Amino acid sequence: MIKVMFVCLGNICRSPTAHGVFEQMVREQKLDNRIQVESSGTSGWHEGEKSDSRSSEEAAKRGYDLSYVRSQATMDSDFIEMDYLLAMDVDNLIELQRRCPEEYQHKLSLFLFHGDLDEEEVPDPYYGGAKGFSHVLDLVETGSRALLEYICSQHSLGNR
Ligand code: 4NP
Repeated sequence: MIKVMFVCLGNICRSPTAHGVFEQMVREQKLDNRIQVESSGTSGWHEGEKSDSRSSEEAAKRGYDLSYVRSQATMDSDFIEMDYLLAMDVDNLIELQRRCPEEYQHKLSLFLFHGDLDEEEVPDPYYGGAKGFSHVLDLVETGSRALLEYICSQHSLGNR
């Protein structure tokens, strides 16, 4: 199994969105027997909580289900067990880099690093309005397609 974990601050807005969107794309490509999807938050502030309703409603509008995701804190064991830890923004990447043992640093990157986008970060929508949440969905959909293509090419998986 190739294990992918999306990481943001709270694991209630951005990374659960990427979790639900990417996992659905993986299922559509019938790659769910090859790619496992997780998400977590560097803060652990919202552990056990469902995704923010603003995120799950925006996702549902576009046909993605986030209802099964529960917030969890990023754990030290994730650096060992995951193959890709993808941070939604630079602050969270820096936090992962600070906590991750040297031998696993190569597993860390920005999520949008794999896309061909002008933006490198998925901005934190938590304290903003509805526009921020739909922008997160736009970036996550584009970034997820690019990420799946990248992983398929890295691991010689057919994704057509
Ligand atoms: P997320 O958004 O990192 O995309 O899940 C946030 C969720 C909660 C908080 C900040 C950002 N908070 O301050 O509680």
